[in-house]
Amino acid sequence: MNILILGGGGREHSLAWAVLQNPKCDRLIVAPGNAGIAQIADCATLDILDGGAVAGFCEAEAIDFVIIGPEAPLATGVADRLREAGIAVFGPSQAAARLEASKSFTKAICDAAGAPTASYGHFTEAQAARDHVRAKGAPIVVKADGLAAGKGVIVAETEQQALDALDDMFGGAFGAAGAEVVIEEFLTGEEASFFVLCDGEVALPIGTAQDHKRAGEGDTGPNTGGMGAYSPAPVMTEAVTARALDEIVRPVLAEMVRRGTPFSGVLFVGLMIEAGAPRLVEFNVRFGDPECQTLMMRLGGQALDLMQATAEGRLAGCAVNWAEDHAMTVVLAARGYPGDYAKGSVISGLETCPEDSFHQVFHAGTARRDGGFVANGGRVLAATARGATLQEAAARAYGLVDRIDWPEGFCRRDIGWRALG
Ligand code: AMP
Ligand code: GLY
Repeated sequence: MNILILGGGGREHSLAWAVLQNPKCDRLIVAPGNAGIAQIADCATLDILDGGAVAGFCEAEAIDFVIIGPEAPLATGVADRLREAGIAVFGPSQAAARLEASKSFTKAICDAAGAPTASYGHFTEAQAARDHVRAKGAPIVVKADGLAAGKGVIVAETEQQALDALDDMFGGAFGAAGAEVVIEEFLTGEEASFFVLCDGEVALPIGTAQDHKRAGEGDTGPNTGGMGAYSPAPVMTEAVTARALDEIVRPVLAEMVRRGTPFSGVLFVGLMIEAGAPRLVEFNVRFGDPECQTLMMRLGGQALDLMQATAEGRLAGCAVNWAEDHAMTVVLAARGYPGDYAKGSVISGLETCPEDSFHQVFHAGTARRDGGFVANGGRVLAATARGATLQEAAARAYGLVDRIDWPEGFCRRDIGWRALG
């Protein structure tokens, strides 16, 4: 089978690694890929937001199966164009991708499905939004309706912060994404991410994870795309998982079917769990980065079979082969991230890192220079390891970190602190 993966971050490197563990894969191309991915697969230059261009590439390269990594091509309808061209694709339609691309859409779906989530108001006009904040008081959460690269959510501790956030959003700081705003009740509890494959009708859980969004140790400092993650998340007990499926995932999938826009792909269910009760914080319609690195490390080659079964509507006959294992990924980022950072600093020691089914250093933002690697992004590497316990996975992941010599980079030393106790 010839496979194309769209994307070029640590998530896509881990997807590429897992796909290559499966003997069904004859040829793998990743577009655009990155310098780490180029070590294991062919990388291609392609406008991945242009469905017509992607479909044309697939015909030229005899691609049988496309895996779409990031949300942006899903939101522009690349999966629809590929399906129209008769190409199997892992990733939802543009209509179903609204579960990530529009927060007010998701809230309306939850209302219709009876799924527990924060109470909210939806506003297209600044004055009404301000009145709502004043009526509800703080803490309160202000969200740009559209895709804002992870920056469109402000958890306001004071009314003034919420009002300032509204000024920014209605003032155009998030472009079209902020022309509509959702204001939510502040939820308390512990967060976890739940990953479920869906083929429209059937939901198959493939793992849980917790990520660390803040740049600093002890979950302090600015929000990032994610500084590390571990899987499974202990808060996702069997009982909580069953409730999340019964109360949130299945009713939402049924509502999407009822509307004629079934969801096919991976649903990333962001949950807040309090006293054993899960409530939905948000959906994403793709794997999380860096959560994906931990899931792929645990699933290995079967990930390809599962993604193919999802695309072909065959999940009813599928099961996941679980090992009683744990995985952790530690992100190495350029100093300054998520603010300004420099590119081009030399990273050495990567060749000393073991690469096997327990250890992988996935590349998120590197480039080649003079036969070595240099930093080429904010999040640069994801040191990922698996073990029989979370302690073992953590020791192995930090063992990888310690072999990497990159003075211009930093990482958090406390990934998994909540679960490691
Ligand atoms: P997002 O960018 O949508 O992933 O949201 C960023 C983060 O904001 C989430 O991971 C939560 O930590 C937090 N958050 C979002 N909505 C709420 C809410 N209603 N109550 C409390 N925290 C929230
Ligand atoms: N790590 C969170 C995300 O991928 O959205």
